[in-house]
Amino acid sequence: MPRTLANNTKTTPQECTSRRGLIKTIVYGIPLLIGGTLAASIGNYLFGKQRAAPKDSWADAADISDMRVGEPCRLQFERAVVDGWNVRSKASSAWIILDNERRVTAFSPQCTHLGCAYHWQADKKLFTCPCHGSAFNVRGDVVAGPATRPLDRYATKLEGTRLWLGPVQKS
Ligand code: FES
Repeated sequence: MPRTLANNTKTTPQECTSRRGLIKTIVYGIPLLIGGTLAASIGNYLFGKQRAAPKDSWADAADISDMRVGEPCRLQFERAVVDGWNVRSKASSAWIILDNERRVTAFSPQCTHLGCAYHWQADKKLFTCPCHGSAFNVRGDVVAGPATRPLDRYATKLEGTRLWLGPVQKS
């Protein structure tokens, strides 16, 4: 004999079972869906492809076709910086010198004493630092202290006339 509800609506046992199944599916399915999504996100964070660290990234810095040989010039360029999930552009600079064989040397713009910005003095043919008086020759070697290390250099590569600057390498 089929069950009757209070309002005298008849329902079969099969209908009760399917309604109970639907409720069970909802009760167990939603937490499983949330858990699965969380697990996938955590797995992607822990084992997913890592983004390149900012210090390892290369920047398309300049066209060197108009550069004069042997004359240092200050170059400003933009470098991509990865900050969590954001990739932003950061202004950077370098002192670059082109030699007769079209090889480029690119110095980091900070003095190796305490990190001040130095400048090229064409009349003396030296990079001089205004903070404590260090001086470096065109190859980046120390000519006057207190700095004890040569200038640090960027990794460089040329693609046609485009100069690419990589990470700074300590001297
Ligand atoms: S920071 Fe350049 S000499 Fe001290």
